Amino acid sequence: MERPRRLRTTPAMRSLVRETTLRAGSLVLPMFVREGIAEPARLTSMPGVLQHTEDSLLAAAREAADRGVGGLILFGVPATKDSDGSAASDPDSFINRAIARLRAEIGDDLVIMADLCLDEFTDHGHCGVLDAHGTVDNDATLTRYREIAIAQAEAGVHMIGPSGMMDGQIAAIRDALDEAGHQDVGIFAYSAKYSSAFYGPFREAVDSSLTGDRRTYQQDPANGREALREVALDVAEGADLVMVKPGLPYLDVLRDVADASPVPVGVYQISGEYAMIEAAAANGWIDRDRAILESLLAFRRAGADVILTYWASEVALWLQGGP
Ligand code: PBG
Repeated sequence: MERPRRLRTTPAMRSLVRETTLRAGSLVLPMFVREGIAEPARLTSMPGVLQHTEDSLLAAAREAADRGVGGLILFGVPATKDSDGSAASDPDSFINRAIARLRAEIGDDLVIMADLCLDEFTDHGHCGVLDAHGTVDNDATLTRYREIAIAQAEAGVHMIGPSGMMDGQIAAIRDALDEAGHQDVGIFAYSAKYSSAFYGPFREAVDSSLTGDRRTYQQDPANGREALREVALDVAEGADLVMVKPGLPYLDVLRDVADASPVPVGVYQISGEYAMIEAAAANGWIDRDRAILESLLAFRRAGADVILTYWASEVALWLQGGP
């Protein structure tokens, strides 16, 4: 008889044959900074996640860096929104000031990234600007993305994370960065990003004003093949890293992308995945810490090199003590 259980007999035996591991250095912490608040604000649907003030952002980022987290990605929540999302590209706006401080104060210790999108900044909540018929105008949006990319690069990001799913966005941003002399600023492309119900809590986190949905630009959850096309296009356009998003419901896509991609592959464990585990744990229905670690291991097993997770800083602390 074959006896696979032999390799599971003791902790040392299991450790010896373990195929995948977690490292703090490959975790990225998504963070929110909100304009015009005096104290950090809690999020009901994401217990433990904060909308930061500039000062609390710096303190939390410092803590993450000290724990060995590999990077952070910043999202801005402006006090006022308009049709073009003008705060995103304003060099003096709260978000670009926050980037500049992050770079100056902890930029040697972790990779500073910024999400590049318009949805947090527009009054209609779409990831692009709208044409006269209210449709997201792909090419006019690319012009805005170029402006935002330059503002973020001048503020000091190491990498830009374009998440709007416009066609040609990586080429446009790469070209704008190169033209402005920012050849060293990288692009972490949200390449295979699905139109997902699991983004729900994020909409609270950024005070989204969206009323419709993003189905004309984000991918249909029914499709796997187009993820490979999106990844191939982004790599051809100059992406340094590519991403699959969400995470757990799309492990098959992650595996396919990891097998095909010539550049490192990231996965984003999104707000709804976070909220589900926190909510079940708060009810005593699952073991929170084990569920978190198991979900992160699943990403590594499916081929992820880099993991974006709201638990990055906490998990990094656990890893210091050994997993
Ligand atoms: C768009 C963006 C979203 C997320 C990251 N970037 C929201 C969306 O596409 O609707 C979601 C992140 C999460 O749910 O944790 N700028």
